[in-house]
Amino acid sequence: MSDDNNQKIPDFDLIIFGGDGDLAFRKIFPALYHRLNEGQIDEKSRILAIARTEYPGDEFGKTLKGHILQHVPDANKADVAKFVKMVSYIPEDATNPKRDERLKTWFDDTSREVRAFYLATPAAIFGNICKYLNDEGYITPSARVVLEKPLGRDLESSENVNTEVAKYFPEEQIYRIDHYLGKETVQNLMVLRFANNIFERAWNAQDVDNIQITVAESIGVGSRGGYYDNYGALRDMVQNHLLQLLCLIAMEPPVTLEADLVRDEKLKVLKALRPYTTETIKTHTVRGQFTRGNTGDGPVKSYLEEIEKFDSSTETFVALKTYVDNWRWGGVPFYLRTGKRMPHRYSEIVINFKPVPHNLFPERKKMVNNKLTIRLQPEERIELTQMVKIPGPGGYRYKPFSLELDYADHFTQRFPDAYERLLMDVVRGNQTLFMRRDEVRASWVWIESILKNWSATKQPNILYEAGTWGPGHRIMNSEHEWIRSRHVAKVQENEAKKNG
Ligand code: BG6
Repeated sequence: MSDDNNQKIPDFDLIIFGGDGDLAFRKIFPALYHRLNEGQIDEKSRILAIARTEYPGDEFGKTLKGHILQHVPDANKADVAKFVKMVSYIPEDATNPKRDERLKTWFDDTSREVRAFYLATPAAIFGNICKYLNDEGYITPSARVVLEKPLGRDLESSENVNTEVAKYFPEEQIYRIDHYLGKETVQNLMVLRFANNIFERAWNAQDVDNIQITVAESIGVGSRGGYYDNYGALRDMVQNHLLQLLCLIAMEPPVTLEADLVRDEKLKVLKALRPYTTETIKTHTVRGQFTRGNTGDGPVKSYLEEIEKFDSSTETFVALKTYVDNWRWGGVPFYLRTGKRMPHRYSEIVINFKPVPHNLFPERKKMVNNKLTIRLQPEERIELTQMVKIPGPGGYRYKPFSLELDYADHFTQRFPDAYERLLMDVVRGNQTLFMRRDEVRASWVWIESILKNWSATKQPNILYEAGTWGPGHRIMNSEHEWIRSRHVAKVQENEAKKNG
């Protein structure tokens, strides 16, 4: 991390609703601990966790300590103790918060520059919480609110949530989190594109054949079955994370990194996404659900067994072919793909370039097109595939060869978790890495063209075995692979129909 990122930030009060939830213990508190440990924040800042459970005595502190030690295995014991002291806990039912003297005292006793409310609760109660904060006079002019996903499950419900919150906070004080934007490697996409001249020159329909964005996960849905079954892969992953990656890859260079300038450019991409029709939904989308299988760690249950509900048609896999209909990208297919229970966890963006216009080498051996692979996780790597001459006399023999930049070989420092960066940006008041309301709206408009057409055409899920790459899906390295995968999917579908 650069020194710049480690600059001390102003003292703050952070109030976390959903303060003893999975997200708080797994991500938010460990992120804050790291920032304390690396000296970016200090004990003058205060953190208040609010949730329903009563923790007698110092039980909350002990529980918090246990979670920090679990999620930060090499944590410094003294810093953990210091951190736990910064955190207070007040039980309160956020669905129906009441005037509470302890809360009032906590808020009265403050002179911190920044006050941030983090709503890590279901979006259905965001409105209640904001109203309560407003009624109690806790919203100061510089206060800000952080909203965790999912913000609704379609255009209407997401607009409702945003409208409720907007009654109490202006847009400049709202921070909608998409944790993918806080990932180091995702931020590196900006540097790769806009700090290197050679790529940007070929970043267009004249030179690029197709672009592939894959987020494959090996996990299933675990204890989140209740939530997941109501959302599915399209809403859970594509509407936010994959579309944000697509925006960063496809957008025009913003004039500066000022939040609204970056978000204006992303919005243009979202608005240029080609909506699906009842025809293209069949040829350009695949949805799937995993059955029992083996992921390498042994046998795993099917999705239906995991959620213990045997009539669910929720998709755990989606593959989409889409287009960004604008001057830069006209005609270039973008393939988006994500799924649970794949053989490995990896996220990757592949830019496949067009072939050379003419093969002048006498042997006319097939050439492999240039390809830029940006591996985002689990390891961070950039790979440029190019053709090279095989040394030796006797004409021009060539083969593909990859130039690889493995981050771990060059950067030895710890890569901060996405939440570390995002939380510090909230305190700094920098909204660049947060989604603006119109972006969220535009992404739902496009997602709804899928949801509505899936429903209108009754597009079935194609079953895939856990531990495989999805329904008949090979890794789509080319248009050809996509067509083949569609073909395999079709055959499976027909067989499934035949077998009743
Ligand atoms: C979350 C989704 O937003 O992102 C999860 O709700 C998913 O279903 C997770 O597992 C993936 O995030 P990461 O950082 O592990 O790639």
